[in-house]
Amino acid sequence: MLRYVESYLFNTVTTVTTLKDGKMNNSNIQKTIIKLRKQLQQANYAYHVLNESIMEDSVYDQLYRKLYTLEQENPNFSNSNSVTQRVGEKPALHFTSVKHNITLYSLENAFNLDELEAWKSRCQKYLGLQTNESIEYVAELKIDGSAISLTYKNGLLVRGLTRGDGVTGEDITQNIRTIFSIPLRLNLDNPPDILNINGEVFLPFDEFTRINEQKKKEGKILFANPRNAAAGTLRQLDSKIVSKRRLQFFAYSLYADNLNIENQWNSLKFLQKCGFLVNPYYRLCKSLETVTNYFNEWKSAKKHLPYMTDGIVVKINSYSLQHKLGFTQRFPRWAIALKYPAEEVSTIIIDIIFNTGRTGAVTPMAVMKPVLLGGTVVRKATLHNIERISQLGICIGDTVVVRKAGEIIPEVVRVLKTLRPFKIKTFQIPERCTRCNHILTSLSNEVVIRCINNSCPAILKGTLVHWASRDALDICGLGEKIIDLLISTNLVNSISDLYYLDFQKVSSLERMGKKSAENLIKSIERSKDKSWTQILYGLGIHHIGYTTAMLLTENFSSVKHLSKASHDSLMTIKGIGKEAAQSIVDWFLIEENGKLINKLNNIGFVLEDKKSGLDESKLSKHQFLNMTFVITGSLNTLKRNEAKDLIKELGGKVVNSVTKKTNYIIVGNNPGSKLSEGAKLNIIQLNEAEFLKILKDTNIKNDKIHKNQEYIK
Ligand code: IVH
Repeated sequence: MLRYVESYLFNTVTTVTTLKDGKMNNSNIQKTIIKLRKQLQQANYAYHVLNESIMEDSVYDQLYRKLYTLEQENPNFSNSNSVTQRVGEKPALHFTSVKHNITLYSLENAFNLDELEAWKSRCQKYLGLQTNESIEYVAELKIDGSAISLTYKNGLLVRGLTRGDGVTGEDITQNIRTIFSIPLRLNLDNPPDILNINGEVFLPFDEFTRINEQKKKEGKILFANPRNAAAGTLRQLDSKIVSKRRLQFFAYSLYADNLNIENQWNSLKFLQKCGFLVNPYYRLCKSLETVTNYFNEWKSAKKHLPYMTDGIVVKINSYSLQHKLGFTQRFPRWAIALKYPAEEVSTIIIDIIFNTGRTGAVTPMAVMKPVLLGGTVVRKATLHNIERISQLGICIGDTVVVRKAGEIIPEVVRVLKTLRPFKIKTFQIPERCTRCNHILTSLSNEVVIRCINNSCPAILKGTLVHWASRDALDICGLGEKIIDLLISTNLVNSISDLYYLDFQKVSSLERMGKKSAENLIKSIERSKDKSWTQILYGLGIHHIGYTTAMLLTENFSSVKHLSKASHDSLMTIKGIGKEAAQSIVDWFLIEENGKLINKLNNIGFVLEDKKSGLDESKLSKHQFLNMTFVITGSLNTLKRNEAKDLIKELGGKVVNSVTKKTNYIIVGNNPGSKLSEGAKLNIIQLNEAEFLKILKDTNIKNDKIHKNQEYIK
């Protein structure tokens, strides 16, 4: 492997030198373009299919940029299968319907092992086999996404279609091309004239959550589950939006003439060889018993997968047996899906309630007749927001379908209106908070309604639950019930009150003996030792999840320092977005919050990095960690090298070309083409004064900045 990397780097360097010479003739240009495409294609394959990195991001970007520029300057060598062509220039106006080369069949379902056994007997009978004659199977995971078909002509991807009705699908080639685990060119020396591939496009859970969180922030309607999100994304008209969502693809079947492949097992191996990502957990099963073991193993193991699977697919391995069995109207006789117990069930709505959460957001919840779902009894399900309620048209008494979306919180998916009873109860969307009676507000850009009463007990409860949670202050024994008691008895009205609890009063609370009270107070006391990151996260500031809190505490070694940070300086931290930056600034502007910080200090919390203390020289040392800067034009007060050194000192680096990974462009006098390249990619521009201001805000001690104080103002 190392040798490969070395030879690759050697080739890269040669390529770049040749380009620098600027003396390339057409033949050299073409050779360079081909070489760059190959290198980038290999890097993509390694990263997206093999899950390996053979090239540093910055090298990838540099090569990509070179290729892009060469292709722009030499349109005669352009090629729609180049790595630079994954995202279409213009959104599509609509999708055209196209007939599939090979009909996409669906699968018959078995819901238990008896039904699987019955399928096997049917196959044996059809094939004229004795019951003791064994058949070989391939068992695969059934990925819960969206089926597509791909066509490769002479090794090049020419078409991608949705499943549609199986006979005709929609042409979504432009979107398919954005999926990096789908090769644009097959990794075969002699590809067949036409190769048709089927497989499943899906969204991993983390990406599904990220997209929904983004949608929530934008006040848009959420995707109900990863499957809908994958299907919805595939049918996006703008392939730029598709390219921003990390869709993935597992190939599971292929059709081509004269390939000499005799069974499903070898076809999966062949797909891998072609450069496709094949779900790695397929298994060759010599008997149905092995299939059963596979099914049972994955029943519990599937929860550890980063994507959703709703069962297994069992396929008879031999193509000649498959051929003999053929198809019914809808299904192949040689394959069956064995489903895991439903994660969607129906139940009846008893009530609809409105819960105020930690941020004041009011979430409608359905209270339901208890029902078994994915192994647990479920009594409540989220209805997300008011808009979702009206979309569903839900009433009390309705029968609804409830689903565990990616094993997260159950949600109501749809109302079975045909089962609606004659007598139904409607319900009112509340105008006031159900806990504190404060009038609710809805901000114009949000679909959520909020309680904005700072002393609302529901908000206080959410705040305390969060403060006590595992990743925050991890206060063992301080659960929801105790928190309810502490609030209702007026013993606690804020986070800081927890640290002044009176032992006598706590031990006299309902169902709370001396021992429990002692333990609770001890674990509250112990929480004072928690790290600056845990405390910051525990404060529950809007948009500040644990990883964001980590980023902040890595960059700001104390609350004192963080409280003074400007929006711009926060934004220079890679990973801190606009909302998080604004939220931090806003939080510290609220007087109450300042008082809380003082109280926490007095209680004995260390609101700073315990290692570095308040050593100003260490503050924000990593302000520009892993950030890339491009400088264009001449600067007024700093020499280019001085600017470079300053950036380096803070963990960043200055590079020569602009890519989508560039964080900032520092724009001086008479800027060059990098300015417009950056503008196209929406890279943030800073003039020299703004750049120096960021450095000043980070308190870095450097003569260059202090000398330039005047200029900053
Ligand atoms: S084989 C003729 N294999 O399940 C063969 N399908 O419920 C048909 N699916 O439409 C499909 N993982 O979208 C096959 N490993 C797998 C699969 C799989 C997921 C989907 C596929 C199909 C649906 C049927």
